Amino acid sequence: MHKIRILGGQPLAGDITISGAKNAALPLLCVSLLTDQPMIFKNVPNLADIRTLLELLDQHGVSINDNLPDLTLCTHTLKSNTAPYEIVRRMRASFLVLGPLLGRHGSGIVSLPGGCAIGTRPVDLHLMGLEKLGASIQLESGYVHATAPSNGLRGADISMPMISVGATENVMLAAVLAKGTTRIINAAREPEIIDLAKCLNAMGARVEHAGTDTIIIEGVDTLHGATHTVQPDRIETGTYAMAAAITRGEVTLNETSLDLIPTVVSVLEQAGMIFTPTENGFKAKAGNLKGIDIMTEPFPGFSTDLQAQFMALMTLATGASMITETIFENRFMHVPELCRMGANITVHGSSALVRCGTPLKGAPVMATDIRASISLVMAGLAAQGETMIDRIYHLDRGYETVEDKLRNCGAHIERIAVSGD
Ligand code: UD1
Repeated sequence: MHKIRILGGQPLAGDITISGAKNAALPLLCVSLLTDQPMIFKNVPNLADIRTLLELLDQHGVSINDNLPDLTLCTHTLKSNTAPYEIVRRMRASFLVLGPLLGRHGSGIVSLPGGCAIGTRPVDLHLMGLEKLGASIQLESGYVHATAPSNGLRGADISMPMISVGATENVMLAAVLAKGTTRIINAAREPEIIDLAKCLNAMGARVEHAGTDTIIIEGVDTLHGATHTVQPDRIETGTYAMAAAITRGEVTLNETSLDLIPTVVSVLEQAGMIFTPTENGFKAKAGNLKGIDIMTEPFPGFSTDLQAQFMALMTLATGASMITETIFENRFMHVPELCRMGANITVHGSSALVRCGTPLKGAPVMATDIRASISLVMAGLAAQGETMIDRIYHLDRGYETVEDKLRNCGAHIERIAVSGD
């Protein structure tokens, strides 16, 4: 097994190229189940989560030509309509194969994903949406058995009682081949939803108003192959911008855009960060950082996927910062780890009070989920002395070549093999 060792205190300086977005790529790759023609994807990040989804698609019978960041997928014949527990439990986004299996192949048997470290994360909204499209759904031995009527799914008005990215995507993936019109009301508005709609439309689908709270889909009979470039990763973008600031360095982020993270930029500017657009991205650095309060919200609000990184940054600001998590019920697992490094943070229910200004000191810490692990890397970069991060497989799920990207900016970071557990 491996750990990450960081010797902190070096301001980051240099360029980082942002990879394709993991959370856009995952639903996009599921699109390949909707056509028997080749789908060509560009700018796909080489991440553990992408490999997990490819493993799942492979067992469904999708042929894969893997030349990452380019990827060609083709589903000539569906080999299996079952997504097994062994794969789905590793990554919740695997549940997104259900929409296309139902929409094009008439049925799907997909394992329930189960809970995950950041919360219970049910799939009731996915199932409610698919039922509204006419699917009959049964739960048996931990699996969802979903079947479309013999004449296929039919469009419907689906009003989401709460905003869910995954449920919006699953319904879109099913509704593109349903008969008639589907309206998803209270849909998620994340940029990844817009990327998915663009790809579906390039295949001949008719998806309108993606990026607003009401998506309208006119079903079509068939979809054809297409080429699609995955959008830049906005979470990676926000993460490295904050990494520059926490080390009091300056980093130029390439192949991305400030427009991808408008709320985050506005919050970080209020906290004292300085952004300058460039031709191909932007420069990010810290000014005089001060504590400010944030609350995570669905897009366009402050992303829950940047909450842990923001908390690490706030430990070094002046004043105090109240950080409220409204999306997931258990997303403060980085708090005790940051406290091991000297941070002064107390949690009250869904809010964490960061008393800013305590210098961080290196310590052995443990990663608990993707975003918690990168917040510990950031804290390690800013801390005096050595930080050793355990359970870094979480990091590999979401951050492509993280050590190389940071080392190119002067960080002392290495992956070391350790014996034991
Ligand atoms: C996606 C992102 C994840 C991000 C999250 C919120 C991917 C692969 N993952 O996850 O990185 O943190 O959006 O921005 O894109 N919920 C229900 N019932 C459901 C579905 C969701 O109650 O059927 C709840 C969840 O428990 C959570 C909230 O809705 O409290 C939002 O979750 P959702 O937007 O669905 O997150 P994911 O799509 O799983």
